[in-house]
Amino acid sequence: MSDGLENVIAAETVLSDVDGLAGKLIVRGLPLEALAGRLGFEDALALLWGGFFPALPHDLQGPIAEARAEVFADTQPHLAAVADLPVFDAMRVLMARLPDGTDLPAALRIAAAPGALLAALLRQRAGGRLLPPDTNLGHSADILRMMRGDEVSRELAAGLDAYLVTVIDHGLNASTFTARVIASTQAGLSSSVLGALGALKGPLHGGAPGPVLDMIDAIGTAANAAAWIERELASGHRLMGFGHRIYRVRDPRADALSAAIARLNKAGVVDSSRMELAAQIETAALASLKRHKPERALQTNVEFYTALLLEALGFPRDAFTAVFAAGRVGGWIAHAREQAESGRLIRPKSRYIGPLPQEAA
Ligand code: ACO
Repeated sequence: MSDGLENVIAAETVLSDVDGLAGKLIVRGLPLEALAGRLGFEDALALLWGGFFPALPHDLQGPIAEARAEVFADTQPHLAAVADLPVFDAMRVLMARLPDGTDLPAALRIAAAPGALLAALLRQRAGGRLLPPDTNLGHSADILRMMRGDEVSRELAAGLDAYLVTVIDHGLNASTFTARVIASTQAGLSSSVLGALGALKGPLHGGAPGPVLDMIDAIGTAANAAAWIERELASGHRLMGFGHRIYRVRDPRADALSAAIARLNKAGVVDSSRMELAAQIETAALASLKRHKPERALQTNVEFYTALLLEALGFPRDAFTAVFAAGRVGGWIAHAREQAESGRLIRPKSRYIGPLPQEAA
């Protein structure tokens, strides 16, 4: 048995490949560097979904905008009922209302929903007047406008696009595997995505970036970094934003996101002293991890720079996992289609280690 299914190949895919030793991510034949910071979310979606839906339009900006508007119109009357829930849970409840189809209109609604819903939920929580989607805008620009309530600069929209594209797909991670298991039963896309949302929420997967900011705040100054980190590791805690099941070198998505932050910094959007502090904490953390776990090669993962980028874009930290879902939903849908079209029912076995009937009696 492989603990945590480590190194087990459980699916064949044309969607993405993670090379953990070389630190490379390939999405549909292209390296991450050719996508992040170059494509908008809708272009990355079209790339990922190619071949999985008949008559898929080349340009998905209009269809995704229409889907955003549909989701908003359908959901607006129910927003108040979930106002007391944490943002991620409120979004998950509202996502459960989406029809469970497998065709392109269903996929578009499910892909548009996390971004549109989280923006509306955050706006509602801030007490602002709800803004319906603007179907002339790209997905990222509109999410930020709906959340912030004002026109959004090209730089900010490009920053969110860079994030959503960077995280859109990543091999057979826990949430994507969950989506494929559900799709293998021939359940619809909404069911697959709801299951994946549950898997994403945990702090070992998509729930880490909020705690990364908590860590940066708790450390406070570069002078405190080494001692704080040593104390954390000595008490057996994990440092959020470091380590990965597959990568033994730096996660290439960390570089894609730090490049997006550098572009925002150039545009004067980022608090550069916070970035300097973060860089010093990263250096101290890597040094301590190397000392504590020399055999494991623990490096910076995607969540460290996710936290800094999403904070710079104005998202509150308790919404970071929901923003992750707004990008990864594209990959979940593609994997669910791929599994349903070509895979068998996923049904592994467990090894029973409990008492036998005569022993229990
Ligand atoms: N800080 C301190 N120690 C760590 C860390 C960390 N961030 N990550 C792993 N380790 C240690 C473990 O304690 C373990 O030590 P042990 O052998 O003495 O028990 C050893 O390294 C191996 O850890 P595993 O849990 O076996 O590694 P796994 O591959 O299961 O974990 C994971 C990967 C969950 C990401 C882990 O590195 C972690 O918990 N990181 C912190 C949370 C985080 O950043 N999550 C986001 C991941 S990226 C994503 O999913 C989008």
